[in-house]
Amino acid sequence: MSLKALIFDLDGVLTDTAKYHYLAWKKLADELGYYFDEDINELLKGVSRINSFEIILQKNNATDKFTSEEKESLANKKNEYYKEMIEQLTPDDILDGIVPFITEARSNGIKCAVASISKNAPRVLQLLKIEDLFDYIADAALVKKPKPDPEIFLTCAEALGFAPNECIGIEDAQAGIESIHSAGMISVGINVMITSVKPDIILKSTAELDFNMIKEFC
Ligand code: BG6
Ligand code: MG
Repeated sequence: MSLKALIFDLDGVLTDTAKYHYLAWKKLADELGYYFDEDINELLKGVSRINSFEIILQKNNATDKFTSEEKESLANKKNEYYKEMIEQLTPDDILDGIVPFITEARSNGIKCAVASISKNAPRVLQLLKIEDLFDYIADAALVKKPKPDPEIFLTCAEALGFAPNECIGIEDAQAGIESIHSAGMISVGINVMITSVKPDIILKSTAELDFNMIKEFC
């Protein structure tokens, strides 16, 4: 395989926003009197906003408590809390090794994209001041089928003008690894809690990202 592009997830790969997602869901859950902890939060990684709320409701045997409209409005309430929290992000919150890794890839002619299903991704990238490192940023609002469907990774490959087998996807969530494999790409897993499919390359943290190692794997 000749490597042409790297496609990055955002939350948990470029920065650790999982803690803010956790705090925002926790605030909503507390208000509703529902149980929510770090273990449940793990299940929400890579999962869309509304599906995340459904998981919290399931864990509380409360799936039938609200209409679809009410669920939508409560999930939006969580998003308002989240939006307020992420305003604290600065370039210091970029995870270790990310900038040198992307810089080296780009200097080797590799294109880079972001495949995040978070509708807040543009604001997070802006606060981290790394938008310019990417040739393409997928628009989460246009994604019809969330991860583990391959749609968002395929959209990025197409936008960059490469075949899926010329791309590598980098993810921290199990749903994301499945999405990358279904797209026909090689996957790099960052600290993934593996429950089904294993990433092709398993790393403990972004500090272990090494452009030459990844290129040799291809
Ligand atoms: C993913 C996160 O990147 O985006 C999930 O891992 C989150 O936890 C999802 O639910 C949707 O994000 P948002 O910002 O659109 O609610
Ligand atoms: Mg993620």
